Amino acid sequence: MIPTVEWKNGVVSMLDQTRLPSEVVYRECRDYETVAQGIKELWVRGAPAIGISAAMGLALGARQIQTTTFNEFWPRFEEICSHLAATRPTAVNLFWAIERVKKFVQTNKDRSLDELRTMLVDESQRILDEDIETNKMIGEHGAAFISSGDIIITHCNAGSLATGGYGTAEGVMRSAVREGKKIRVYVDETRPVLQGARLTAWELMQEKIPCTLITDSMAGYFMYHDMIDVAIVGADRISRNGDVANKIGTYSLAVLCRQHGIPFYVAAPLSTIDFSLESGNLIPIEERDPREVTHILGKLQVAPDGVHVANPAFDVTPARFITAIITEKGAFQPKDIHRLADGSIDPEPFRIKK
Ligand code: MRU
Repeated sequence: MIPTVEWKNGVVSMLDQTRLPSEVVYRECRDYETVAQGIKELWVRGAPAIGISAAMGLALGARQIQTTTFNEFWPRFEEICSHLAATRPTAVNLFWAIERVKKFVQTNKDRSLDELRTMLVDESQRILDEDIETNKMIGEHGAAFISSGDIIITHCNAGSLATGGYGTAEGVMRSAVREGKKIRVYVDETRPVLQGARLTAWELMQEKIPCTLITDSMAGYFMYHDMIDVAIVGADRISRNGDVANKIGTYSLAVLCRQHGIPFYVAAPLSTIDFSLESGNLIPIEERDPREVTHILGKLQVAPDGVHVANPAFDVTPARFITAIITEKGAFQPKDIHRLADGSIDPEPFRIKK
């Protein structure tokens, strides 16, 4: 699996996903400002990968603070946290990772700053390693819902590229294939940024998982003709009541699935659940540059000059359209997801078995 983001000898190396699939180019980020730029400009994207990058950005930022006292270090570190937090508003893993690293710094504030700087690199690496392990568990739980011969539809990219590695929704597909199941994946191209066409199709082809690329508007056609068995997507933020924010177009896909009696699964780690939000209506939705809509990949203009454009990057799928949310702790009905908030509750009685 090709690395998405890595700490390499004091720099954060990011695969520039805006250049895929035509070029595999890594950008070297030597300061937290460049990491923030990379998140904002989508060199790295996908909720877990954004969180990991932010944690590595904080490890870089800690090295940029020139002081020997914690009292001077902390307010400057908090400013760096705010800078990184201001990059993208929807994927909660960004804020989750920043909070985790802030707590880690506070817990270790009695260490020397040099020690702390080294520990922050290790902590960001731990976030990455844990994410890969988590994805594999999601994959294992999710594969139980896939039968050999299934045709799966997915939207956007929730693969290795969107995470530390392995992927959430694509992780389920990987695990199913590793279990010897034969699958085919219909990949929505995912306008306007084309994560499906550029990233998911590329990733699945690298893994030799059979796939068929379609435009977003073709999904209903293939469902109507009984050619789709199951939908699996990732998530950027899940509220307590099981509503799911994911790439724009996910809601339309879920509604189509309901109309055609197709199960609709969301695969995501617990770090994507925002237990502080009662419902999906409270999830902030990123509005991106109109140029993403008027131009194909910033190049070919496909709309008249001056046209009014809306470009919400995510939508919210209400819990009632979701068959199950598959996490590292198992698969749950969306209405039960809030039970995971308190890590001490045994989720076993609420797990959906297959
Ligand atoms: O704008 P992006 O590419 O960062 O959005 C990512 C998504 O919405 C993905 O669908 C994904 O499921 C969330 S990350 C696993």
